[in-house]
Amino acid sequence: MSTTNYIGKPTSRVDGPAKVTGAATYAAEFQVPNLAYGWVVSSAIAKGRITKVHSEEVLAIPGVLEVFSHENVPSLAWFDRNYKDDVAPGGSPFRPLHEDKIQFNQQPIALVVAETLELARYASSVLRIDYEEEKHETDIEAKRDEGFEPGNGKSGWMPPPPPRGNPDKAWEEAEHRLEHEYVHGAQHHNPMEMFGATVEWRGDKKLTVYDKTQGVVNVQNYLTKIFGLSKDDCRVINHYMGGGFGSGLRPQYSVFLAVLASLELKRSVRVTLTRQQMFSFGHRPHTLQYVKLGTNPDGTLAALQHHALHETSQFEEYTENVVNWSGMLYQCENVKLGYQLAKLDVFTPQDMRAPGAATGSFALEVAMDEMAAAAGIDPIDFRIRNYAEEDQNAGKPFSSKRLRDCYHQGAAKFGWDQRNPQPRSMRKGNRLVGYGMAGGVWDATQKKAAAKATLTADGQLLVSSATADIGTGTYTIMTQIAAETLGLPLEAVTFKLGDTDMPEAPVQGGSWTAASVGSAVKSVCEAIGEKLLKLAQKMEGSPLKGASPDEVEFVNGQIRLRQDPDNAVVIRDVLQASGETKLETDSSATPNMLKQGTHSMHSHNAVFVEVEVDEEFGTVHVTRVLNAVAAGRILNPKTARSQVLGSIVWGISMALMEETIMDHQFGRYMNHNYSEYHIPVQADIHDIEVLFVEEEDDVVNPLGVKGVGEIGLLGVAAAITNAVYHATGKRVRDLPIYLDKLL
Ligand code: MOS
Repeated sequence: MSTTNYIGKPTSRVDGPAKVTGAATYAAEFQVPNLAYGWVVSSAIAKGRITKVHSEEVLAIPGVLEVFSHENVPSLAWFDRNYKDDVAPGGSPFRPLHEDKIQFNQQPIALVVAETLELARYASSVLRIDYEEEKHETDIEAKRDEGFEPGNGKSGWMPPPPPRGNPDKAWEEAEHRLEHEYVHGAQHHNPMEMFGATVEWRGDKKLTVYDKTQGVVNVQNYLTKIFGLSKDDCRVINHYMGGGFGSGLRPQYSVFLAVLASLELKRSVRVTLTRQQMFSFGHRPHTLQYVKLGTNPDGTLAALQHHALHETSQFEEYTENVVNWSGMLYQCENVKLGYQLAKLDVFTPQDMRAPGAATGSFALEVAMDEMAAAAGIDPIDFRIRNYAEEDQNAGKPFSSKRLRDCYHQGAAKFGWDQRNPQPRSMRKGNRLVGYGMAGGVWDATQKKAAAKATLTADGQLLVSSATADIGTGTYTIMTQIAAETLGLPLEAVTFKLGDTDMPEAPVQGGSWTAASVGSAVKSVCEAIGEKLLKLAQKMEGSPLKGASPDEVEFVNGQIRLRQDPDNAVVIRDVLQASGETKLETDSSATPNMLKQGTHSMHSHNAVFVEVEVDEEFGTVHVTRVLNAVAAGRILNPKTARSQVLGSIVWGISMALMEETIMDHQFGRYMNHNYSEYHIPVQADIHDIEVLFVEEEDDVVNPLGVKGVGEIGLLGVAAAITNAVYHATGKRVRDLPIYLDKLL
């Protein structure tokens, strides 16, 4: 017999066939008539002024339609000068082409629009621009003493909690002490799909905007406020995304420029960025972290101090809470957390998968490994001795926390007991073998979201919400939730997303979509279910008469009594008998603050790594990774596993390869291309195992789901660093671990 219990079952992506056959259309692929092409001209200097844009020279080329720059940008742009997008940091957002001022290298300073892409690109290459250069500062080392605490808030910015206990005295008096600096450079977003927007001019200032974004509603709000458009006249669509990872949380300048050109030229315009231009925005900030740990003779933490300083731009205060989780992951009475920014002549950094936590956990978890070694305690035992039973930052219990099981189950499956604690004690031929572990914590968040559902007389259900699928599997899990809630076969359910004509949803980020949109989908399907039940009870001789919604269940295309499953009505018959052609309703889901307000809600993980390091060459091979994750209910183990696999690969990248290198003389990232910005290839990736630890949680949301988009990245780089230490006896505290650091 078939079943309609889909939640928790490994399910292949419902959008998979569209993606692999090319039927999925991405922002820069939409075919619209009479399309013009814009090419972005990027600043060659890091700081200064544009004194002249020699537009007339390229306007003379037949087929070039316009050159937009600060010299001719219309006054309509930036209608609302103070407008910030939904996820903007404090400060004033960058306004492309707004003024002659140059604030970062590769700043977009002009848009050349032409009849063809090739012509636009050629014309932009010969566009002469005169600059007046000023001295720039792009090196955070020069700003070590100029760190300041962020002043302007943004949604998601949580100042570190105030110090507790007596962290300085406790550290001074501790049995074992360490203090070290941990550093990583900038990393840039390199999703497969580059940023781009196709703006369809539908006449009379009516636009359909196909944009690469993690939030169509955010882009619509931004465009309507800035260009003074009504929402009805500015529909934003994003059905598919070739990777987001945080790069598409904020509207990027590509969509601004495309809309500007479309409104001015009164025709459809497409603007796409090059791979090089992808390095002109949205990076994980270069961060300097300082950790001090002290332990008591029994191996419990006496003091924990964690300070971070990272870069931001001159115009916005980007924050990512690097140190906060360090105050909750372990039990410690004496804690001091510090967080500062330094302004550089760079573009504002942007969220990148597990922003702040991925990097904060690198410093904390390497320091924990160092302390375990200094105290002569196994790294897992050391963590268990310091296990936090409640969130000391917030003074609240966790809604659920099965991190201990991540340690135990992960260690058992990995074979941690095979580890000889002595560094340089394990080898295979000329390769030194090391085992390392680390872990982390990420937030389980629910945001308000809405959905709409339509059930038609043929038994087909259509559910929609203006959310996104940035590659995470949203289409699939929402289809599963809807199918299970109404007891319909998966094939009878279609989930649609990524269109501002749909009910509102937040940007897809922060690992909150499964919880937020999932709860809305469940809620709207339950509302359809109640309508169905009422109609079913009106049917002649209905076996469901008098039953309350709690007394029935929706399974296998039927509504039946829980207590007496033989008493059932076929869903398709209900609509037909009622004479209705469809049932339709909207619903939204909001966090239950009564439950959530009294708890601290987080996902956790523990990562176990085996490395082999070539003794002569210093090359590091990550031969095995096991990531044990406790993230509430896993809606779809197949797509969830893929999320964690991707995180592990990215963690390997972060540990060993990935870094954007700034040439401070030019104030420009020099490896701004795929040949020099190193990321792993297939040959760099070996055995990876993902273990989901079962975790029930009825506080986080009605589905009990915490989200898996980000937790998988926590601790991966630290576990690799710790394994490298175990293999070689060399402690590296700055990422990536280039081979010369091991020689
Ligand atoms: Mo994620 S960095 O919140 O897209």
